[in-house]
Amino acid sequence: MRFLTALCLFCLLASIPAQDRASFRRSNDRSGRCQYSFTVDSPTEASCPGPGGADIQALQSRLTLLEALVSRLAGGETGTGTMGKQAALQEKYAQVAAERTRLQRDKERLDAQVQELQGRLSELQLEAQRLRAKPCQLSSSPGGSLQGGDQRASSGSSIFPHLVSRPGGPSETAGASDPSWQFGRAAYQEFKAEVTELPAPRPNRKGDEDRCGELVSVSDPETHRKADGISGKYGMWLQDPNPIAPYGPKTVWRMDAVGADVRQLFAYEDKEQLARGFPTKVLLLPEPVESTGATVYRGSLYYQRRRSRTLLRYDLASESVAARRDLPHAGFHGQYPYSWGGYTDIDLAVDEQGLWAIYSTSKAKGGIVLSQLDPHSLEIRRSWETNIRKNMVANAFVICGRLYTLASYSAPNTTINYTFDTATGQSKAVAIPFRNLYRYNSMVDYNYANRKLYAWDNFHMVSYDVQLGDPDNI
Ligand SMILES: *[C@@H]1O[C@H](CO)[C@@H](O)[C@H](O)[C@H]1NC(C)=O
Ligand SMILES: *[C@@H]1O[C@H](CO)[C@@H](O)[C@H](O)[C@H]1NC(C)=O
Repeated sequence: MRFLTALCLFCLLASIPAQDRASFRRSNDRSGRCQYSFTVDSPTEASCPGPGGADIQALQSRLTLLEALVSRLAGGETGTGTMGKQAALQEKYAQVAAERTRLQRDKERLDAQVQELQGRLSELQLEAQRLRAKPCQLSSSPGGSLQGGDQRASSGSSIFPHLVSRPGGPSETAGASDPSWQFGRAAYQEFKAEVTELPAPRPNRKGDEDRCGELVSVSDPETHRKADGISGKYGMWLQDPNPIAPYGPKTVWRMDAVGADVRQLFAYEDKEQLARGFPTKVLLLPEPVESTGATVYRGSLYYQRRRSRTLLRYDLASESVAARRDLPHAGFHGQYPYSWGGYTDIDLAVDEQGLWAIYSTSKAKGGIVLSQLDPHSLEIRRSWETNIRKNMVANAFVICGRLYTLASYSAPNTTINYTFDTATGQSKAVAIPFRNLYRYNSMVDYNYANRKLYAWDNFHMVSYDVQLGDPDNI
């Protein structure tokens, strides 16, 4: 009888083994990864049948029999015994639930650490790039402010032996010390220098303009990502409608625009990587950016230099300033912003016909001036003055040579209520519904390659499909 009681107790204990005998340990393995291990004291299989598969019913009935036996042996304590066991089980369950919550928190913390490490990795890559660029700068750029741009301008032969002469330096990162990589890059830059000296080809693929028409409707926004830091309250995100290698049509560019010294340009492989928050690259711009008016076009980032009317063309492949020019008479830093403010005085835009600047001047008395720019030199090709006041509109963009303005940046249901056609010089009122889903839209730009508007609405990167009318019906 004694033996039976002992066996029975053992089986009861074994029926709640995980809770009773489990221990939980965290440690780092050799590669520095976090390792979670659960240890459970296991009875030898023979001593008590495992609770798996078809055995479970048999086990349960045996358990019931044994329970009855125990209760008879233990006499009056039966009821409280079962109750006590239930209470104990409940307690164990609560413990397990608590442990699970804790694990969840640990996981979140680890995820955050991964993100942080990713960020640091990007910084290190950036640092490596800067180190690599430095000697070239000393040898070829006395002015010093234009980094790789001068590398391209100088003769290839002065870069070439220099880069090749220092592969494998002890302080260099693996990527930088790979001689074949160095060789490839130098050769590539040389090649590029020749290409960029040629006159710019016509900016657009044939057919883009043929498909042009008047804006008919804008879809509801699709949300791609929410910025995680306070610096992401407003910003810009874009895809190049006419990309140049090494970047492609899927590459996503992003800049958080809050802060006095905005220089970081994040590159993501595609929208999925943007959504996951893993940039493939962080470019550090040589001069700070003003506001959210930047745009990406034909392998360059075009932007307004902070506190100035200076426009810069930053070549994304060579990571250097390729052109700079003042936008004549343009108001800046709060003179003629959009209605939400944010120093949005100069807004650059791209459409089927090329590169545009949307701004105002004192001569235009705050009315929107629209200028078509030469994408290579940033010179004004042609300008139009409109009678719509820049600080009364929330944002503006250009589609097929027509300027469109948005009435409100914060109203959830607003309209695009005005358009100006550069072909005719005529303006007119329209009423195309537009949704500000997150109620603080700080950037709206058109991409003609995929017929979408890209917008930054209160930390959220969103896009809208646009529908254009049949050109024959205009
Ligand atoms: C468009 O909306 C803006 C802002 O609400 C308003 O000031 C302007 O008068 C409207 N324009 C037209 C043409 O309705
Ligand atoms: C805005 O428009 C959408 C769709 O037309 C509608 O469902 C929503 O209720 C409107 N919101 C407001 C605040 O009017």
